[in-house]
Amino acid sequence: MKIKKLTHNVVKDKIIAVRVDFNVPVKNGEVTENTRIIESIPTLKFLVKNGTKQIHIFSHMGRPKGKVIPELSLKIVIPELEKQLGEKIEFRKDYASGKARIQLHENVRFHEGETKNAPDFIQKLLSNGAELFVNEGFAVSHRAHASVVGMASYLPSYPGFLLEKEIEVLTPYIKTGKIPGLLVLIGGAKISTKINVLKHFATTAENILIGGALATTFLAAEGYDVGESFHEPDMLETAREILGIADKNNVGIHIPIDVVCAENENSTEVVTLPLEDVIGNMKIFDIGPHTIKSYTEVLSHSQTIIWNGPMGMFEKKNYENGTRGILKAVAIQKSAKTILGGGDTLESMKKFGIEKHAFSHVSTGGGAMLEFLEGKELPGIEVLKSR
Ligand code: 3PG
Repeated sequence: MKIKKLTHNVVKDKIIAVRVDFNVPVKNGEVTENTRIIESIPTLKFLVKNGTKQIHIFSHMGRPKGKVIPELSLKIVIPELEKQLGEKIEFRKDYASGKARIQLHENVRFHEGETKNAPDFIQKLLSNGAELFVNEGFAVSHRAHASVVGMASYLPSYPGFLLEKEIEVLTPYIKTGKIPGLLVLIGGAKISTKINVLKHFATTAENILIGGALATTFLAAEGYDVGESFHEPDMLETAREILGIADKNNVGIHIPIDVVCAENENSTEVVTLPLEDVIGNMKIFDIGPHTIKSYTEVLSHSQTIIWNGPMGMFEKKNYENGTRGILKAVAIQKSAKTILGGGDTLESMKKFGIEKHAFSHVSTGGGAMLEFLEGKELPGIEVLKSR
């Protein structure tokens, strides 16, 4: 079944509930990375300009687990949202309707009913009189929560423009069978959250480049001494299985050939070593210059590059070269389609001053992007097909 389209006639004179994902990084009371807010603006502006009666915006922030945690109040995003939207916004703590045309409601995860998709909480979310639901939260669409699927089960429901765009851009890469020229870069901390996406691309990509702490698990699986580096010992068999699938499907999996190490992340003594020289109490925190060079070479021959997860602990100056180097290399690939996603990847772009328009598509999804690319049906999208 097809997903319907949001049009002027559908929204006119209606009270609208919109689920966005404003789970954005915040520091000292301010939003530090605003991609998810900016990307929701076209849909919100469309709703403002097309004769809607009221717009009720819902989101989560963090994982407060049903408790009210003041630092995770969504009130913090109001200045940025008002600035980007150019409209005044009323903040509501009780999900009921206030007076203003546009209202942002408090973090839905302050209530247990959100993650449980509890019927009484869904009714609370609908108590403002919403007549139509718009899902603009691609990044949370892998969660079967009250504000994602619950409201959609009671109201005529539509995708926002961002959700539509994410589906359109990512869909070609969930198909089975070889995709010529596809290169996938996977970094980040844990293999356990990326097993399925790795298994999927181990059959369809031409090359997979591995970085981040996740690479260390692959290195250990290949029998290298990784010193005292963070890795997942219970995932070694899984890493070998992924390497085996790639081998069988003629997919090149690339792991670092040199690394940046220290005794601990704050240590001032930092060394760059060939992989074979890592021993004792050393810990790996980034990929080394030879790896950056060889990864750059491989990606420069690709037609499509999909990237999720940083190459090293880029938050620290000593370990930023890997992520910065690869980010720059991907940004200059003008003949390739480049698709990036994941919160850390967005933060690294901001840190290294690389604009979003350097890439074909910057996904707002982290876990949602990975699950979508694995080929999983996301509940927040599936529910729209039946409504
Ligand atoms: C994200 O940041 O990936 C989304 O906001 C979803 O958050 P969650 O993993 O806490 O559900």
